[in-house]
Amino acid sequence: MNQTSQRRLLITAGPTHEPIDAVRFLGNRSSGRMGVALADAATELGWHVTLLLGPVAARPSRPGVVVRHFKTCEDLRTLLREEVTHADVLVMAAAVADYRPKPNPAMSGGKFRRTNAPLVLELEPTPDLLAEVSAARNPGQLFVGFALEPRAELLESAKAKLVRKKVDLVVANPLETMDSASVEAMILSADGTRTDTPGVMSKTDFATWVMAVIEKAACGTRSLSAVA
Ligand code: CTP
Repeated sequence: MNQTSQRRLLITAGPTHEPIDAVRFLGNRSSGRMGVALADAATELGWHVTLLLGPVAARPSRPGVVVRHFKTCEDLRTLLREEVTHADVLVMAAAVADYRPKPNPAMSGGKFRRTNAPLVLELEPTPDLLAEVSAARNPGQLFVGFALEPRAELLESAKAKLVRKKVDLVVANPLETMDSASVEAMILSADGTRTDTPGVMSKTDFATWVMAVIEKAACGTRSLSAVA
């Protein structure tokens, strides 16, 4: 943790668009609003915030947030590699595609033409960006993942993600959060702690609540790295 200057937060938000041809893509319904609300909340709390933002209309309302844009998982990977070493805390709220169209010479010539024959798109897995950067992190950095899961599987899936991605915190949201103005969620910590939202919250209030949990955890990381 950077103790002498402003604390630095790196946030990713929004979907990725994975190209099929020159005009079509595979995407998802993420609006990016949660990550943008976190960027605003953190700025208000005095953090220096860099927001890596996908192809969405949402923009931070607070001045001072540094915004860099990505479209694909690969774009985001490049930006993350450039930015992550400067961050005290990484919050990975982006809805990164798990699969993308495999490069196909038939699709590479611009716009793929319609025929009456069925079309099969072959997909390949994308790299797990959070697991990748987490494996190479600097001592004292705090990494936070997100999990969007059906309510019945929320706890178990979020616990599995904590371990699989080697992160400090996972913000676990039920699937119903998507497209909703309100949130009821929990944050799981690698030390086994579970913190629940005090009821249903607006996304803005939720962002402030998440930042309070992150600040508390970051203080723990700072004192540990100061001791080490
Ligand atoms: N994530 C990532 N790279 C990917 C996919 C996801 O960094 N290729 C990050 C997300 O930003 C989020 C966390 O991993 O912080 C969990 O994302 P999620 O889609 O819920 O998990 P997956 O790893 O895709 O696992 P599953 O498909 O089993 O839910």
